Amino acid sequence: MEKKDINWSEIGFGYVKTDKRYVANFKDGAWDEGALIDDDMILMNECACVLQYAQTCFEGLKAYTTEDGHIVCFRPDLNADRMVDSCARLEMPKFPKDKFVEAVKQVVLANEAYVPPYGSGATLYIRPYMFGINPVIGVKPADEYQFRIFTTPVGPYFKGGAKPITITVSDFDRAAPRGTGHIKAGLNYAMSLHPIMEAHRNGFAENMYLDPATRSKVEETGGANFLFITKDNEVVTPKSDSILPSITRRSLMVVAEKYLGLKVTQREVYFDELKDFAECGLCGTAAVISPVGKICYKDGEINFPSGMDEMGPITKKLYETLTGIQMGRIEAPEGWIEVIK
Ligand code: PLP
Ligand code: COI
Repeated sequence: MEKKDINWSEIGFGYVKTDKRYVANFKDGAWDEGALIDDDMILMNECACVLQYAQTCFEGLKAYTTEDGHIVCFRPDLNADRMVDSCARLEMPKFPKDKFVEAVKQVVLANEAYVPPYGSGATLYIRPYMFGINPVIGVKPADEYQFRIFTTPVGPYFKGGAKPITITVSDFDRAAPRGTGHIKAGLNYAMSLHPIMEAHRNGFAENMYLDPATRSKVEETGGANFLFITKDNEVVTPKSDSILPSITRRSLMVVAEKYLGLKVTQREVYFDELKDFAECGLCGTAAVISPVGKICYKDGEINFPSGMDEMGPITKKLYETLTGIQMGRIEAPEGWIEVIK
């Protein structure tokens, strides 16, 4: 299989059209067979529910080339489960887990030429999504849906890759206390577009969102969960009903405990205690683990002892173990790696 002529180590996190995408349609209460298609364009009615009332959710995972030349993806079953949860909250139909995993494998295989080579630093990002497609004008869910998956080769989410970033505390909230923060609804990301542009305009890479009820606790960023390391090497991660249950974060909690022998705690994390942590990182499929060196807020800034030059030592161990598992250098826990080829 000849790979595409792409400068893999130079690509950022952007969209590159690949050859094939997967599409399945839901009509009259049932999903059709689904198929791989060439057309990247979607034609829909002007009054489609997704266009009027944002009835859409998505997932994100990656395919990796392993050290021994296989193509694999990481815990796609958990993306399938999370999409079922997102769909339930948005009154959308469930896309069956076995079909989801099968479709992911098919679409990656069909775009094998775009799966970045081992060691290039790039991966193939996989974006499953679903939306209500028939015309709806009164506020109600659609009756017809499309489920699709496209892929795109990507490099690091933040410029500079493993270099620590500076983030700011947003004045806006990304989710309501009993809203949709815990699911991967497109509407959450629409909410975050103005705050992220404000952050960028002010020179910050990302926003930290606080809990919308009291604004005293740490939630997450627009696209990743937080991990903090205490001065005693304990891994602490925020617990909240309004953050996305990150698959990377859940995996890292296992990695920290079982592979690195660290104490791991998921609990409410108060903004006021951040100054006492030794390291901070953002974790997610796109972010992998991005170290945070500094947090700026209205009344001051927090500079983590790990500094602005390099990842902190524990963050680095977590990063190396997780990516080692994903790229086949370290044995994975049972069921974490789905071999595609
Ligand atoms: N939080 C938000 C808001 C996200 O968009 C993502 C990305 O998917 C994550 C966290 C990380 O989740 P995961 O590790 O499952 O990619
Ligand atoms: C992912 O990590 O897959 C996401 O969906 C985050 C997004 C901000 C790119």
